[in-house]
Amino acid sequence: MSGLAALALLVASPHAGSQPKASYAQRFADLCAACHGANGRTDQSLTPVLAGQPSLYAITQLFLFREGRRSNEAMTAVAKTLTDDDLRGFSDFIGTLPPVPAPPAATPPDPVRMMKGRALAEQHKCLFCHGAGLAGGQQVPRIAGQHEEYLRDSLRGFRAGTRPGYTQAMTAAVSQIPVEDLDILAYFAARSPGSADGK
Ligand code: HEC
Ligand code: HEC
Repeated sequence: MSGLAALALLVASPHAGSQPKASYAQRFADLCAACHGANGRTDQSLTPVLAGQPSLYAITQLFLFREGRRSNEAMTAVAKTLTDDDLRGFSDFIGTLPPVPAPPAATPPDPVRMMKGRALAEQHKCLFCHGAGLAGGQQVPRIAGQHEEYLRDSLRGFRAGTRPGYTQAMTAAVSQIPVEDLDILAYFAARSPGSADGK
């Protein structure tokens, strides 16, 4: 069975024998919060904010880490220890974490850079897939309010092919975009508040 078929099965199959949700809240606190923050927002700039991520996006990424398709020393080591039920349990829990806005920045966003970022996001259809507020949904991640450094590295990784996605969507979206423009997109998304209702 191909990796992607295995993921489809994992997402579709019932939570047979999985632990109740409450225990994943505790396990998240024990195993994940040191890096990702108790509420899913850490201030470590290369550790992604999980608060507000859709559970389907989370399970896809945990699967990619576990199968060695997405690679990161810290996160791969964690993912290798997770069972199928854990993938479901942790991603269901992540799906319950409400978005947490970024703390106010020391300096206000540069309006010219923000305008350029919005125009690029429109031009390259980032808004089309990630939503007008960049809040994501289903298998598409929230990128509003994500750490700028993490976004920058991720976008460069998709472009360079060092971060293969679950599908080709992101590689195709960024392969023709100059790196300087990717950095402006990271700047813009990190400072976007998410949609008006905070969802
Ligand atoms: C030692 C630190 C560390 C621990 C512990 C850790 N993570 Fe991570 N996690 C990371 C880093 C760093 C990344 C980003 C990796 C990269 O840049 O590719 C990440 C990425 C992720 C992602 C992908 C997020 C995205 O936006 O793509 C998910 C989901 C995730 N972690 C869930 C978990 C869960 C669930 C646990 C606990 C079982 C956990 N992590 C424990 C450091 C950690
Ligand atoms: C065709 C739909 C589509 C388009 C267009 C698109 N994205 Fe994505 N994006 C996705 C999907 C799906 C993922 C999940 C990647 C995977 O398959 O693992 C993703 C992942 C990402 C991530 C990783 C987030 C994380 O937490 O690790 C970033 C950053 C991102 N997209 C930014 C952008 C930007 C900026 C643009 C515009 C240049 C864009 N995307 C255009 C669908 C899209």
